[in-house]
Amino acid sequence: MPWSELGRVLIVSPHPLFREGIVRLLGDQAEVVGVVASLAEARSAIRKHRPQAIIVDHENVELEEADLAPLLWPELESVRIIYVTLAGNEMIIHDRQRVVAATEKDLLDALKGASYKRQSPKESLREAHPRPAQRAPEIPERGGIMRKLTVPLLITVVLSVPVALWFWRTDLTPELAAREGQPIDFLLRLEFAIAGVIFVLCMVFFFYSLVVFRRAPGDLEDGPPVHGSTPLEVAWTVIPAIIVIGLASYAAGILWDIMPTTGYKDELVVDVTGFQWGWRFEYPDLGITSSELVLPVNRPVLFRLYSVDVIHSFWIPELRIKMDNIPGIENHLRLTPTKVGEYKVRCAELCGTAHAYMLAPVKVVEQSAFEEWVKSQTAAAPAPPTGAAGVDAQAAERGRALAQQFGCLGCHSTDGTKLVGPTWKGLFGSTRTFQDGSTRVADEEYIRESILNPSAYVVEGFPDVMPKNFKDQLSEDQIRDLVEFIKTLQ
Ligand code: CUA
Repeated sequence: MPWSELGRVLIVSPHPLFREGIVRLLGDQAEVVGVVASLAEARSAIRKHRPQAIIVDHENVELEEADLAPLLWPELESVRIIYVTLAGNEMIIHDRQRVVAATEKDLLDALKGASYKRQSPKESLREAHPRPAQRAPEIPERGGIMRKLTVPLLITVVLSVPVALWFWRTDLTPELAAREGQPIDFLLRLEFAIAGVIFVLCMVFFFYSLVVFRRAPGDLEDGPPVHGSTPLEVAWTVIPAIIVIGLASYAAGILWDIMPTTGYKDELVVDVTGFQWGWRFEYPDLGITSSELVLPVNRPVLFRLYSVDVIHSFWIPELRIKMDNIPGIENHLRLTPTKVGEYKVRCAELCGTAHAYMLAPVKVVEQSAFEEWVKSQTAAAPAPPTGAAGVDAQAAERGRALAQQFGCLGCHSTDGTKLVGPTWKGLFGSTRTFQDGSTRVADEEYIRESILNPSAYVVEGFPDVMPKNFKDQLSEDQIRDLVEFIKTLQ
């Protein structure tokens, strides 16, 4: 581009002849970004276009470099300001001290900054136009800064104490029910207390500046051209870095303490399998598989975490620590429940449509109650009621175990409760109404199809979220057992 060597040029003159003459003279050698008539227009044009050169009609415009300095900051050094007078056939370029008759070429050279050698704008500014006092940037003296900081710092200190205390004493987490959760809660309180103080610091200075340094009525001046402050920038980099590194090291220490890699004496092993969308709990030493997690209080538990499909995350908020169930990887998590109560396992990893419903009941019970539960799970299960004709009682019992093992009961109740999926109570033999309005009687073939291809019949009022992979997990015999079990639930 031909004009690139001369750059962006702004022309300031009230006279059309002057303006047109200069524009024509520059031709296509410069990019004329503005042609303005007055000082006020020049100001806004400079702000808007950031010109690299300004040609001023010296006869008719009272425009000194000192006027422009605050506007051109911080590019002042590199902006060329050329004062030109047109007198008859003559063009005169003013160079502060000298007035020189000039040719068109001189002007172009001046724009290029080539043969037209001049002092740096700052030097010539200082020599020719001693900076008027009212133009000096209003950067307060150091003592003044300290005085101005005293009040907001005092307010910060006064407000920080209650805010930090509030965060320190408020329960931000659900009740704590595991030994390993104590240092986590302590760390959380500490972090919130520190964050609270930093929040107060920022807000106090923010509102203090808004109020105290607000514009006075009628003041249209720009603020002082503050460039930066090295001590301030070093401070706000180093201090947060120290806080963050300190907290991170402390947190790493805590993690080290609460995630032991060697087993506790007498720990209970529970294999936790996550699947879309439920949980299966196996107690390998007790030979129990369950869809609810029952734990004895005050006994360490080793959870071995698995997934059969996608990544899930095993989380009981009251027990604090959570860990991912990753397909193909066995993760270990050790926790010691300390409070008898009923909690819930939640999946903490977005894993598909029914992620939000991926819950399982947790019961922390006394040792004696746990032993009773174990006994009830391992004892020969009572024969299922044989209300319906043609139910194979043994197959139904196997089906009940499968329903627990594969987490069916996480979504389908056996007592009529509406969960994610339709209840199994009274399912067999009933007439089902589907999303498209069609109906069908639920016979053995319907239940079998619904297990293998859940999307074939989506019951009205329920989401199509049942896993589609049971055909890979269940044999034909197992499906028949499940159907038998459902048949008993009348
Ligand atoms: Cu499994 Cu979310």
